[in-house]
Amino acid sequence: MELCGGGGHSYEILKRLDGSGRLIGIDRDKTAIEAAKEKLKEFANFKIIHDNHANILNILRALDLAGVDGILLDLGVSSYQLDEPSRGFSYMQDSKLDMRMNTEDSISAYEVVNNYSEEKLAKIFFEFGEERYSKSIAKNICLRRTEKNIETTFELVDIIKSSMPSKSLNEKQHPAKRVFQAIRIEVNEELALLKKTVIDSIKALNRNGRLAIITFHSLEDKIVKHTYEEMEGRCTCPKDFPVCVCNFKSYGKIITKKPIIPTEEELSQNPRARSAKLRVFERN
Ligand SMILES: C[S@@+](CC[C@H](N)C(=O)[O-])C[C@H]1O[C@@H](n2cnc3c(N)ncnc32)[C@H](O)[C@@H]1O
Repeated sequence: MELCGGGGHSYEILKRLDGSGRLIGIDRDKTAIEAAKEKLKEFANFKIIHDNHANILNILRALDLAGVDGILLDLGVSSYQLDEPSRGFSYMQDSKLDMRMNTEDSISAYEVVNNYSEEKLAKIFFEFGEERYSKSIAKNICLRRTEKNIETTFELVDIIKSSMPSKSLNEKQHPAKRVFQAIRIEVNEELALLKKTVIDSIKALNRNGRLAIITFHSLEDKIVKHTYEEMEGRCTCPKDFPVCVCNFKSYGKIITKKPIIPTEEELSQNPRARSAKLRVFERN
């Protein structure tokens, strides 16, 4: 089995495995790995690897594993990453701009905010954050940069707020939420690598093995949904052809025609799960 994350789900899976099988955890964040090792110390049948799960096929090859029976990808940021001020993910706490899941990566939110062109910033805010005021925010960031570099999360929050009409500041969602999400996605290449990760994860499954992916926003969910559809494959021959000639390849079937969403009971224990969607694919 294979799983990404800081330990919560791994613990539940290892308990159910009851000593049989093996769990491989992958996380790009070394702090998450330390937390997982501590949480899982009562078990012996697991291995944790510091890497990007986009490298799943290489990781399995290095472990001499031809395939796995189940993969859980719990995407996005962890509560620890959001809540720890030094990681610079949160618009609610003042800290240095960072947002790197892997602190060994060279590009952080600081480089994105201070070095990207106005056009590139506006594009990212619009595409990855669906931000209505992307152009005016990008313009004001570049204006501020002519005076000094933008160092902290609260400096960025102030620029974002000052770029919006006052009615938008009273909306339920924090005014900086969408731009912070967009910068985080850019810094960590979250969407750029997702399609490849889904395809390679399906290829890594043994027969009847299942891939379960939890997403937290619609951009991720759309990529997972469409990649599952492509991997399920569909005959595109005209209806009146007696035999299939398009040679479509199917890697398996989608188990969840509609995504599974959290129950009210789960949400009362974990409100951050509100936007979570779970989709499952089974290998043939
Ligand atoms: C939502 S949290 C997982 C929480 C975990 N399932 C648990 O129960 O404790 C997401 C984790 O995935 C990691 N992550 C996100 N994208 C990754 C990627 N491409 N490769 C490896 N790890 C990634 C993050 O560093 C973070 O620790």
